Amino acid sequence: MATADKEVETTGLTGWIDRRFPMTSTWKKHVSEYYAPKNFNFWYFFGSLALLVLVNQIVTGIFLTMNYKPDATLAFASVEYIMREVPWGWLIRYMHSTGASMFFVVVYLHMFRGLMYGSYRKPRELVWIFGCAIFLCLMAEAFFGYLLPWGQMSFWGAQVIVNLFSAIPFIGPDLSLWIRGDYVVSDVTLNRFFAFHVIAIPLVLIGLVVAHLVALHEVGSNNPDGIEIKAKKDANGIPLDGIPFHPYYSVHDFMGVCVFLLIFAAIIFFAPEMGGYFLEANNFVPANPLQTPSEIAPVWYFTAFYAMLRATTDPFKIVLMIVIALLGLLALVKARGKWKLGLPVLAVLVLIFMALTESKFWGVVVMGTAVVSLFFLPWLDRSPVKSIRYRPLFHKVFYAIFIFAFLMLGFLGTRPPSPAATLIAQICALIYFAFFLGMPFWTPRGKFKTPPERVHYKPH
Ligand code: HEM
Repeated sequence: MATADKEVETTGLTGWIDRRFPMTSTWKKHVSEYYAPKNFNFWYFFGSLALLVLVNQIVTGIFLTMNYKPDATLAFASVEYIMREVPWGWLIRYMHSTGASMFFVVVYLHMFRGLMYGSYRKPRELVWIFGCAIFLCLMAEAFFGYLLPWGQMSFWGAQVIVNLFSAIPFIGPDLSLWIRGDYVVSDVTLNRFFAFHVIAIPLVLIGLVVAHLVALHEVGSNNPDGIEIKAKKDANGIPLDGIPFHPYYSVHDFMGVCVFLLIFAAIIFFAPEMGGYFLEANNFVPANPLQTPSEIAPVWYFTAFYAMLRATTDPFKIVLMIVIALLGLLALVKARGKWKLGLPVLAVLVLIFMALTESKFWGVVVMGTAVVSLFFLPWLDRSPVKSIRYRPLFHKVFYAIFIFAFLMLGFLGTRPPSPAATLIAQICALIYFAFFLGMPFWTPRGKFKTPPERVHYKPH
């Protein structure tokens, strides 16, 4: 018998199960004896809320699938059937469509918390990397799901995004044909997107969420002070600033769940379309391959990245080339060892490649890099403290500018393009990347406050 099992002495049915399956020991390890810092604040609600929304999406998704038809001639009508004829179908559908947007609201806030308190820093790099992979999967899941109602926006949105792949040099056109399975988005595309949306991506997503939580419980949670509670333990090996997840945080999170469900229900019952932000007006029109809508805009949670894509015009490509040339020069002057020559040579190769390829392709690269940059955060941030609380004022200003630029991009992505909007989007995209690229240089600088020995906590 394993040591953990020996510690568990249970009788009756629980004992019977425990002798065959690690039920009580798992409950103790991950719930009743998982010691979380006692100073969690508002920002720590969003992890459990993300779990709640994940369950909501899976359960409502199963019920939707019972009446949805993944067939180009039937899909739109089957969604209308769910809305009008299936008992409570309208509720299930709105719970799923609102859940999709709320998933992103919750996950963006969850990521923001990680950024503020340095939760991605050692030893939580893998927690963060699994999180970033979850974010990628979530984007794929939302993209595939959006085609299913087979409305005008479903069709044309998929058409635009799949066509982006054709901008990749050499393999692009064949690649986009391979993704669609046809020369245009068609029934074949709908069938494969359905398969990805209902089974392939959810499986990966669930696996990643389990990995995310297992990694978190291995190293323990961070907290708003960004200090390690495991550094100070009592005689029994329990962190002095830790409290058992259950009942303290199970009750605490339950309160968060109640408030969240109030907001969720209010949206579902009073504003399920959210003024076109959650469900776009054009998607209530059946897909028509012969009529392009005047405005093709993605759903709000993609708009920041979409704005970067649109901002990558020919002049912007030249700005990017100048930035890369300057970085190459900087490496030549500052870098040491094999990087001294390697980096400038790489910069020259990239510049030649950029000169030979169209800006549409670089828009795709910019958009992809914006997401991929997140993965590197644990190694880009070199500040001696984790939490924003103990960082210099200028760090806080940089964070604020970064968040403002991201929100501005999100806003611009919902608007029709104009020369002024494109210029602002270009500036915001440069700020976004400067934040990440500059991190190794600005994060160790400035006057830091000394973090406390024990967490700050006021009983209430
Ligand atoms: C389906 C989506 C997700 C679920 C269900 C989920 C779930 C959770 C839960 C339950 C926690 C512990 C409670 C908490 O700290 O709030 C947590 C912590 C964490 N998550 Fe996620 N998460 C998701 C997505 C993400 C994403 C996209 C990222 C970042 C890119 C991320 C990064 C983190 C980090 C760094 C922590 C540790 C925070 C700390 O200890 O301060 N998560 N997650």
